[in-house]
Amino acid sequence: MPDHPSTNENRAPGDLTTTLLEDQLRYYRLGASEYHEANNDLLAATDPDGASRRAGRQQALAALAPAQGRRVLELAGGTGLYTRPLAVLADRLTVVDASPESLALNRSHLDPHTYVTFVAADIFQWTPVEQYDVVVFAFWLSHVPLELFDRFWELVDSCLHDEGTVVVIDARAPRAAATLHQKETFFSEERIDDGVVMRQLGDGSRHRVVRVMWDPQELTARLALSGWDATFEDSSWLIGHVVREPSVVEAVRSDG
Ligand SMILES: C[S@@+](CC[C@H](N)C(=O)[O-])C[C@H]1O[C@@H](n2cnc3c(N)ncnc32)[C@H](O)[C@@H]1O
Repeated sequence: MPDHPSTNENRAPGDLTTTLLEDQLRYYRLGASEYHEANNDLLAATDPDGASRRAGRQQALAALAPAQGRRVLELAGGTGLYTRPLAVLADRLTVVDASPESLALNRSHLDPHTYVTFVAADIFQWTPVEQYDVVVFAFWLSHVPLELFDRFWELVDSCLHDEGTVVVIDARAPRAAATLHQKETFFSEERIDDGVVMRQLGDGSRHRVVRVMWDPQELTARLALSGWDATFEDSSWLIGHVVREPSVVEAVRSDG
């Protein structure tokens, strides 16, 4: 289980975390095209891993349903694997990512008639200028250091309308019976400690990347501590919807 700090500790990133986040972002900036191709190749693979990824992807796409006809924010949208389906569903879509290289690829894969607002910004420095009905992040939560977990969810809170929904999609902590796949891919990694792995790009450069693998039940309990009500699907991925607990919505309403 991730060993998380109490809710009011360590609100600003320390120097070590800042350096780690810089390296993580460098990895995604330098590796934007590799990331995109590797994901597409793995989804198309004819082996059991490919089949499992396609099944996860189908469940993840179905979980985007709350975005239908709504104002949607996608955090860490990257090269657009989830931006494209969201752009079809949403009434208005804003995508934030700190890698201009990934956003350029993302934009290039969209239908030119689709209107999406792209914001190149560091999530940990960004302040939203409006609120959204739905906030989506795919394969991002596992890249949020535990030390910044509360701060990140406070950002999500500030982005979301009272009765809004958060859609979380990610890899999950392996179940006890899960088999570890050994095949070398773009995503192969060497664990450094509980929350950090080392990954390598095609140019041989090695980068430290945050990797916090949440178990759905533990994440549900952790979110409940700050007034969120989470429901995760039975899936080999972490796929779920998170809303504010009714008492929190009521309290916000009576304050307002
Ligand atoms: C694993 S990728 C996920 C991309 C996309 N959501 C997907 O599912 O393919 C993580 C993304 O986080 C972005 N990122 C890394 N650090 C960031 C930061 N501090 N602020 C905003 N985006 C960041 C990277 O540029 C990358 O696009």
